[in-house]
Amino acid sequence: MLSFVVKNMSMRSPTALRSDHDPAALTVHAKPLVFEDPLSRQLLRELRRIAPSNATVLISGETGTGKEIVARYVHELSQRSERPFVAVSCFSETLIDSELFGHEKGSFTGATSTRMGWFEAAQGGTLFLDEVGDLPMQVQVKLLRVLQEREIVPVGSRHARRVDVRLVAATNVNLESAIRAGRFREDLYFRLNVVALRVPALRERPGDIVPLATDFLRMFAERERMGEVTLTAEAISRLLDHSWPGNVRELENVMHRAVLTCQDGRVEVGDLPLSVTARETPEVESTSSTMIERSLDGVLAEIFERGWTDTYQQIDNAVISHAYRFCHRNQLQTARLLGISRNVLRSRLAKLGYIAARRSISPDSPDPEDTEPESAPSQVVGSGV
Ligand SMILES: Nc1ncnc2c1ncn2[C@@H]1O[C@H](COP(=O)(O)OP(=O)(O)OP(=O)(O)O)[C@@H](O)[C@H]1O
Ligand SMILES: [Mg+2]
Repeated sequence: MLSFVVKNMSMRSPTALRSDHDPAALTVHAKPLVFEDPLSRQLLRELRRIAPSNATVLISGETGTGKEIVARYVHELSQRSERPFVAVSCFSETLIDSELFGHEKGSFTGATSTRMGWFEAAQGGTLFLDEVGDLPMQVQVKLLRVLQEREIVPVGSRHARRVDVRLVAATNVNLESAIRAGRFREDLYFRLNVVALRVPALRERPGDIVPLATDFLRMFAERERMGEVTLTAEAISRLLDHSWPGNVRELENVMHRAVLTCQDGRVEVGDLPLSVTARETPEVESTSSTMIERSLDGVLAEIFERGWTDTYQQIDNAVISHAYRFCHRNQLQTARLLGISRNVLRSRLAKLGYIAARRSISPDSPDPEDTEPESAPSQVVGSGV
């Protein structure tokens, strides 16, 4: 099974970066890019400053903020722009290092031919590791070595090969929390985080909302072979009021639907299928709880977009696992933290393989006293939630 998903392997794409205040247009993307808000313009300045170097870049930001676009732009502005840009998604349960580093013929069952890994495919160019927080631990160790030695050893080979690749990684999870939770190596984090670029959430840069919406309308109207499509004043204020948990991608989807439903080329409020979100509700919560809700909105939007078949179960498993680890495997504390009985917790932990199943575990039986923390789980659950 293919463990890495190659999202794109491209050389140079043919259209222009749009910036009304900036005559230096650049080719990065198949559609015009918008960086109008002061916060975005600051990001753009930073990006232009660091792009020409060979430094490893770690791009962070919520789902749909434009991390991949930023990665492509870094590549485009570098000396490597004529060489490949290889984008690889690290989100996989069955990731094997042979795909990243290559393998020799016969090195394992099924290795019927020698295969070049993505590092070598990106030789001279840029390797974009998307969702790097999802990299399995054993691959993290090897990646660290490659970053230190600048050479790879394909699976089954005794010979190291030098690679000249700039690494750009992206994450929509907080890697520092992942380090604390024992899911990400701190030494790798420092190697990746040489230059940190944070792509702000769309709600933090309201100056981008209308220019982006207008560009998306133009793009979709052209695609649908329609005439000019415009936004009414009410529609604009609705867009500005929304908190955009799915960020630019959500705005893009909303504009696509609006183009399809609007009458006479005018997008009204009714053409905008927006959910009621934090920004429209009265300000009764503290800022921090609102921020947590918004982050959760972003994570959930991302999960729903991925279309898992067992979403509820996966989220439920992840909550139990994370809480258990957070409480250093103390069952009583975990049960209190989650507001569930210890018996319910024990039955869930047994199902997840953290503790041995007991015949008598029943959610309804009385809570026994707490015992010492149990041993490590026999299986890992809850990927990347
Ligand atoms: N500044 C921008 N101008 C125009 N389009 C943009 C901009 N930023 C993002 N987009 C569009 O929004 C969508 C999401 O962008 P992208 O895939 O780069 O986000 P991402 O942060 O990598 O998302 P994810 O976390 O889900 O991987 C894409 O279709 C992209 O073209
Ligand atoms: Mg992405």
